[in-house]
Amino acid sequence: MVHAIRIHQTGGPEVMKWEEVAVGEPGPGQVRLRQTAVGLNYIDVYVRTGLYKNPLPLIPGMEAAGVVEAVGPDVYYFKVGDRVGYCTGGTGGYAEARLYPAERLIHLPDGIDDQTGAAMLLQGLTAHYLLHRTFPVKPGQTILLHAAAGGVGLIACQWAKALGATVIGTVGSDEKAELARANGCDHAIVYTRENFVERVKEITNGQGVPVVYDSIGKDTFYQSLDCLSRLGTMVSFGNASGPVGAVDISILNTKGSLFLTRPSLGGYVATTQELRDSANALFAAVLSGKVKIDVRQTFALKDAAQAHIALEARRTTGSTVLLP
Ligand SMILES: NC(=O)c1ccc[n+]([C@@H]2O[C@H](COP(=O)([O-])OP(=O)(O)OC[C@H]3O[C@@H](n4cnc5c(N)ncnc54)[C@H](OP(=O)(O)O)[C@@H]3O)[C@@H](O)[C@H]2O)c1
Repeated sequence: MVHAIRIHQTGGPEVMKWEEVAVGEPGPGQVRLRQTAVGLNYIDVYVRTGLYKNPLPLIPGMEAAGVVEAVGPDVYYFKVGDRVGYCTGGTGGYAEARLYPAERLIHLPDGIDDQTGAAMLLQGLTAHYLLHRTFPVKPGQTILLHAAAGGVGLIACQWAKALGATVIGTVGSDEKAELARANGCDHAIVYTRENFVERVKEITNGQGVPVVYDSIGKDTFYQSLDCLSRLGTMVSFGNASGPVGAVDISILNTKGSLFLTRPSLGGYVATTQELRDSANALFAAVLSGKVKIDVRQTFALKDAAQAHIALEARRTTGSTVLLP
């Protein structure tokens, strides 16, 4: 038996219980992992509240790093003792140990420690596909990225800057603005007191931006459309303030023949090859120093509820790791 955080019903942070669970032996295609660091992500909140539906009871958590402890039949690419991480194989991460499908596992390079690995995979792979595949950012472009001081935000700011973009970021406070600027954000807008549409127009001399990466959802969606230049791309990739809901697509016409997409990481790394190629690109960016991973908060895994409270109250910055 090992300990894990489990929820039997959806709701507030208090539904997360520290319980004993059985792990068992790995079946075909599976490994058993001893987990050393667990990544905290906003999707964990959506799973806990029930915004994203899953059968119950469940162990939340999409991401962790650890060591392969046992290998099931038909697993060839991983062996006992390998240092690995993951973020795309479903829930079950908030545990001391677990079974996991080998085809969704990633080897961690020597230069990346376990806490960094657990902090960077989900947020880093997301920044990678957003900036390279959803709307490939080109040198000289000016982009708008919401929640620029958050987990995805700090990584995406640095990466977009390295790609040669001018980065406009929104943040919830002056302290976050400073942090975003230190991570490649050229213009940090404190959208809790500044009108970000007006500021984007000022910064771009009235032109607007060719892309908005919007993970806030309900509170920012329509204003984000107003920041786009003609033929611009609206990338709505999250709902930190609540889901956007139904959109009348004729608005894309009236706002300038816009493009709208609602992507998810799972859709971009659906095959093992895509997952490994994207992870290699992320590791290269981090190992070269182009992108630094900032683990700015850690919590004991059994205190995951405290971590969720901080995340939802907008009190975290950068990445957060839970320690089993
Ligand atoms: N589609 C995908 O593939 C994908 C993958 C990963 C993440 N995401 C999304 O990307 C976003 C960022 O994820 P993350 O894990 O890195 O989280 P995060 O950015 O570290 O935390 C969320 C941030 O959103 C901002 N925010 C604005 N309004 C909020 C509200 N009403 N409640 C809570 N937060 C609010 C806060 O920053 P300020 O105080 O600066 O506003 C907060 O710190 C999330 O929406 C997540 O769902 C999507």
